[in-house]
Amino acid sequence: MKDAFVAAIDQGTTSSRCIIFDSGGAIVAVDQREHEQIFPKPGWVEHDATEIWSKVQAVVAGALAKAGLRADQLSALGITNQRETTVLWDRKTGRPVHNAIVWQDTRTSGLCTQLGGDVGQDRFRDRTGLPLASYFSGPKALWLLENVPGLRERAEAGEIAFGTMDTWLIWNLTGGPDGGVHVTDVTNAGRTMLMNLETLQWDSSILEAMRIPEAVLPEIRSSSETYGTAVGQLAGVPVASALGDQQAAVFGQTCYDVGEAKNTYGTGSFLLLNTGNRPVPSKSGLLTTMGYQLGGERPVYCLEGAIAITGALVQWFRDQLGIISSADQIETLAESVEDNGGAYIVPAFSGLFAPYWRSDARGVITGLTRYVTKAHLARAVLEATSWQTREVVDAMYQDSGVEITTLKVDGGMTANGLLMQHQADVLGVPVIRPVISETTCLGAAYAAGLATGVWSDLDELRSHWRQDAEWTPRMDAAVRDREYRNWKRAVERSFGWYE
Ligand code: G3P
Repeated sequence: MKDAFVAAIDQGTTSSRCIIFDSGGAIVAVDQREHEQIFPKPGWVEHDATEIWSKVQAVVAGALAKAGLRADQLSALGITNQRETTVLWDRKTGRPVHNAIVWQDTRTSGLCTQLGGDVGQDRFRDRTGLPLASYFSGPKALWLLENVPGLRERAEAGEIAFGTMDTWLIWNLTGGPDGGVHVTDVTNAGRTMLMNLETLQWDSSILEAMRIPEAVLPEIRSSSETYGTAVGQLAGVPVASALGDQQAAVFGQTCYDVGEAKNTYGTGSFLLLNTGNRPVPSKSGLLTTMGYQLGGERPVYCLEGAIAITGALVQWFRDQLGIISSADQIETLAESVEDNGGAYIVPAFSGLFAPYWRSDARGVITGLTRYVTKAHLARAVLEATSWQTREVVDAMYQDSGVEITTLKVDGGMTANGLLMQHQADVLGVPVIRPVISETTCLGAAYAAGLATGVWSDLDELRSHWRQDAEWTPRMDAAVRDREYRNWKRAVERSFGWYE
C-alpha cells in the first residue's frame, strides 16, 4: 500500500515545530525554531505574531526537506497551538495591530476583578467552565480594544479579526488577506471565556458583559474537519484539524475513554481527564474544558488542572540564575544529593493557577539554611513540578470521584527520570510514557488524518500507542505525607505578595 503522510504544526509558547508522520503514526521528520519572548514590564509577556508566522513557514519547509517529501505528498495538515495567546489583526493588510498577549501575561488581573463585579471570579463559570483569570483570551482581547488607539471603532466596523494561534495560522495558511478562512475549533474557543460549553457557540450575554464586538470573532468549528485548503508552500493540502496543545496531547495519548488522563510537561503542565460527553463542573479549582470534537460527533469534555510554571522553572534556573547551562544538567545536579535539604520552591511567577487561582501569589523559596546547596535547589525545582501535579490530581478526585490509577505522561520534562520517579512517588501510582512522546503534534496529525480518511477510527489510532517507560512508586508513605505538608506550607507563603 502506498504510504500516506500527515504533517502537524505545533505552535508552542517558546517555539514552533512541524512534524511529519507516516500512516503508522511514526515520526518521519521534525523541524523546530524558537521565537522571541518579549517582556515589556514585570508580569507582561508578548509574542510577535508575524515572527511566529514566518517561523512556522520555516519549520514546514525544514520538515519537508528533512523528510524528502513535496507538499503534494501530504494527505493533510493539522494545527495545534499554545492556547489563550491572543492576537488581533487588520483583515485587509494581515498585519497584527499589537504584539500577541501571551497566556502567561498578568496585565488583565485588574480587568478580571472589575469584570467579576459583585459576583466575583465565578461570574461566567457556569457557562464557560472557567474562573475569571488573566490566563484566558477574552479579557486580553478587551485590553487590546481599550488600549490600542482607535481599535474599538475599527473592530466594530468589521475591519479587525481576533484569533488565538490556531486561527492566526489557519487564516494565513489559507490565503491571509486574499481569502483566508477565519475559524477556530471548540477547544481553542473554549479558552476565550466567550464560548458557551453547552451550545459550542459564542455567548452573546458574555460578549456584551466583556464588551467584545461579535464582528471580530472567528466561526467555531469542530476539531477535526477540513477548514480550507492551504496556499503557498503547502498549496493544495487540506487544513483539517485544530486543537489546543493540551487537548491535542489528550488525543495523541489516545485518552478516548472516560477516566483516562494525561499530563504534559512543557513550559507549564496540564493534566486533563476525559469526563465524556457532558461537562463536569469543578468545585476544586479545576477547569471544565473541551477535550475534542470530531466533525459532527458529540463533543468530549475534560477536567483540566492547569499549572502555569513547571519546565519554565528549569529555564529560569538556567537563564536567570545561571546555575546550570543546559536544561538536562538539572538531573545530574539534583542526583548528586539525597533530598531537597529542606528547601521548597513555589514558582508562582504568574500567580498560581490550579487549584488556587491566586493572581496575588508570587514565587517563594522557603526552608533555606546554610546547609542548602545549589544541588538541593535543583531538587526543589524538580519537586515543584511533581507536587503541583499532586495537588491537581487530588482536586480531580474531589471533583469527579475518579481515582487515577496510572498517569500517562509526555512532553520535554519526561526525559528526566529523576523527576518521573518523584512524580510516581508523590502520586502513589505508576507513571507511563509512550514511545512517541510528541503527543501534541501526534494528536493534531491524528485528528487531521481522521478527517481526510488516512485513519478510519479511534480503535485504529489506539492500536498505535506503545509504552516506552514506566516508573512505579517506591517512596515511604510517611516521608511522602511529611513532604506534602511542607509543600503546602510553602504554597501558603506565596499568597498575598502582589497587590
Ligand atoms: O494554556 C497554555 C498552554 O496551551 C501552553 O502550552 O506547551 O506551549 O507551554 P505550552
